[in-house]
Amino acid sequence: MNFFKKYLISQFGNPHGIIGRWAGRKMSRINVERNEWLVNNLSVMNHQKFLEIGFGPGIAIHFLAKRTVNGKIFGIDASKVMLEQASRLNKSEIELRRIELIQADVHKIPYHSDFFDHIYSVNSYEFWANKIEALKEIRRVLKDSGRLHFVLQPHSAKNFEEVVESAKIFGEEIIAQGFKQIIIEYKKMAPVSCAYLKFEKTFELY
Ligand SMILES: C[S@@+](CC[C@H](N)C(=O)[O-])C[C@H]1O[C@@H](n2cnc3c(N)ncnc32)[C@H](O)[C@@H]1O
Repeated sequence: MNFFKKYLISQFGNPHGIIGRWAGRKMSRINVERNEWLVNNLSVMNHQKFLEIGFGPGIAIHFLAKRTVNGKIFGIDASKVMLEQASRLNKSEIELRRIELIQADVHKIPYHSDFFDHIYSVNSYEFWANKIEALKEIRRVLKDSGRLHFVLQPHSAKNFEEVVESAKIFGEEIIAQGFKQIIIEYKKMAPVSCAYLKFEKTFELY
């Protein structure tokens, strides 16, 4: 892979500057289906608190705001450019204080312990520098009764079997950090199929 292609791909994990803005606009066009699928998988109840990690241009938050009546949606993303784009997309709900978006890193989530009913993330995990520390933080801010959701679209997978294999390895990594997998589902999607995984906290041996 040449240097320029590598640089472009890196912008999807750490969007910044002019190219980061371009990457955000591209994501807001091509990532709609997987984000909508994630939101359809969340069991939304009244008065719940949601956290999205790595919201990018803010598509999932936009869909979720239409489904929640009196819940509150929070989002963190490490990129200032993504915060700007997601804030524009969700402007009216932010003004109503139904959504709160901030620039923050998953390794240091700026909320107190046992705060969220649902935490979810779509294709951001692969960019986290220290996955064990990040999952510790997620465990800390997730309520004991809370649920952790991921959608994974592994772009390096060449066929459906490789998507299944990636999702299996991914699930094992999450389980190793004190979670129990309760659902895994797949959806055919272009250019690569997606996996949805749902977890709850475990308490034995932890
Ligand atoms: C490939 S984009 C996916 C965006 C969005 N979830 C979607 O599906 O359209 C990955 C996002 O994760 C964010 N991200 C990467 N590392 C992060 C970290 N350590 N903490 C918070 N966000 C992070 C990036 O800034 C980027 O917006």
